[in-house]
Amino acid sequence: NRDILLKNISKETDFPLSFEEWEQKAVENMLPGGYGYASSGAGNEETAKRNVEAFSKWAIVPRMLNDVSSVDMSISIFGRRYRSPFFLAPVGMQGLAHEDGEKATAKAAQSMEVPLIVSTVSTYSLEEIAAAAPGGPKWFQLYFSGCNPALSYSMVERAEKAGYEAIVITVDTVMVGWRETDMRNQFSPLSQGYGTGNYIHDPVFMDSLPNHDQDTIIAGILENVQHPTLTWKEVAEVKKRTRLPVLLKGILHPEDAEMALECGVDGIIVSNHGGRQLDGVIASIDTLPAIAEKVKGNIPILLDSGVRRGIDAVKALGLGATGVLIGRPFLYGLAAAGQPGVEKVIERFIQETEVSLALSGIADLTQMSKLKMVRE
Ligand code: FNR
Repeated sequence: NRDILLKNISKETDFPLSFEEWEQKAVENMLPGGYGYASSGAGNEETAKRNVEAFSKWAIVPRMLNDVSSVDMSISIFGRRYRSPFFLAPVGMQGLAHEDGEKATAKAAQSMEVPLIVSTVSTYSLEEIAAAAPGGPKWFQLYFSGCNPALSYSMVERAEKAGYEAIVITVDTVMVGWRETDMRNQFSPLSQGYGTGNYIHDPVFMDSLPNHDQDTIIAGILENVQHPTLTWKEVAEVKKRTRLPVLLKGILHPEDAEMALECGVDGIIVSNHGGRQLDGVIASIDTLPAIAEKVKGNIPILLDSGVRRGIDAVKALGLGATGVLIGRPFLYGLAAAGQPGVEKVIERFIQETEVSLALSGIADLTQMSKLKMVRE
């Protein structure tokens, strides 16, 4: 651990350290509309702010006198072991941050051995992203199509074929949240073609259109990305049609977590979409303990929304999460410096987590329950 600290002091001052510093680089490199889209939250941005504040309200009561000379922060999920508890959240339209978009992110995820979750509305197609980093672990995030379920099953099949290892159905996005920053900027990344990659490569989607004009394609995507009719029935149907584990992303209520268990889903992601969907909702970290109590270790629980540094991950693990996703932090790394930027962001998270676990008296993640967590 001393080596880590010395390394950072001696030669790594070129890259930012804190989230705020990375964000500043992103502001410099992104177009205002794109940065506004990425950084803002829904409504009055109460939840977006709460996500970060809530982490600082939780405190760790650490343990002493445990040998922490080597910290093992690996986790095991769906039969696979990962070196750290970090995942890259599904973030659509990454072409807004860097021209190589998800391809650069995928390469970074591969080199850092961190699983990548590819969005339905990625700039590049899931096949192109898989080809950019064939050795990296990848999951596919599905925005279920409310008007054309066959399109969703087609995407799941493509993901399976391209080597994706799990399907994440996002359930908090029945329609797009009330986002005033985008309205003010008159900014719609889909209309500008940033999130079209998976759709234009899908035969079911293309066959469903009367013609293939750009306007028709965009209108078709806007219609298919929403899913106000989605219920547990469709989740069960996706489960039936794939051999891959299925996770639900966007669960906040403990009873929904219980229903997810009953439905046979393989994992849940406690998330409020980074405060971008329903403003006024609870911070993910604050609802995690009640969810963990219901899930009782039966399936893995991942968490996102507001994770800004390693210590936040330690708090989530201390409250019952198996792993955490980061969204905006890696996106800003991508905007700041492309693939190396994403790699550096991930490295900072992993290193800070390692130091923080050691100082908490935790040598490996099976020991997390030894910590006491208190909320202010
Ligand atoms: C997202 N998020 C998201 N989620 C999802 O399921 N599918 C998607 O396509 C997107 N797209 C997306 C774009 C942008 C620009 C952002 C910032 C976020 C939500 C994402 O997966 C995650 O839940 C949040 O980003 C986590 O919060 P933090 O880490 O950004 O605070």
